[in-house]
Amino acid sequence: MLERTLSILKPDATRRNLTGEINACFEKAGLRIVAQKRIRLTKEQAQKFYGVHSERPFYNDLCESMLVGPVVVQVLEGKNAVLKNREVMGATNPENAEPGTIRKLFAESIQENSVHGSDSLENAKIEIGFFFSECEIVG
Ligand code: CMP
Repeated sequence: MLERTLSILKPDATRRNLTGEINACFEKAGLRIVAQKRIRLTKEQAQKFYGVHSERPFYNDLCESMLVGPVVVQVLEGKNAVLKNREVMGATNPENAEPGTIRKLFAESIQENSVHGSDSLENAKIEIGFFFSECEIVG
C-alpha cells in the first residue's frame, strides 16, 4: 500500500552536513521525499511533538537536543513507507542497529540518533499534520 510517513533529520545530522547522505539512503530504498523543509523547532513544538514521551526520564534532554540546531522535516512516500523507513533507519539505539542502516552509519548515541520516523500509519498522519499542510506535499 502506498503510504506516507514523517521523517526528521535531527540537529546532530544537520550539524555534520549529512542531509544529502541520509536522503540518498531513503531514495535508494525506494522512498520518495514528497515534502521537505529545514526549520528550527521551538521549545513548545518539541515538547508537543514528543508529548507521548513526557513521562519518560529522557524527555527533557530529548526536547533540548532537538533545539540545539536546525532540523529537516520531511514526508516520505512509498510502498509500506512507515515500516520501510523504520527498516532504513535501524534500531533507536545505534548499538543495536543493523549494519548499513542510517543509525548504524551515522547516529552518535541513543539520543542523538540522527533521524526520527513515525512508528505507525496512525501516528504518521498526526505527525505529518504537525508540520505540513496538504498543499505542501507533492507526490
Ligand atoms: P525517536 O525515534 O525520535 O523517538 C524518541 C526519541 O527519544 C528517540 O528517537 C531518541 O532520540 C530519544 N531517546 C533518548 N533516550 C532514549 C531511550 N532510552 N529509549 C528510547 N528513546 C530514547
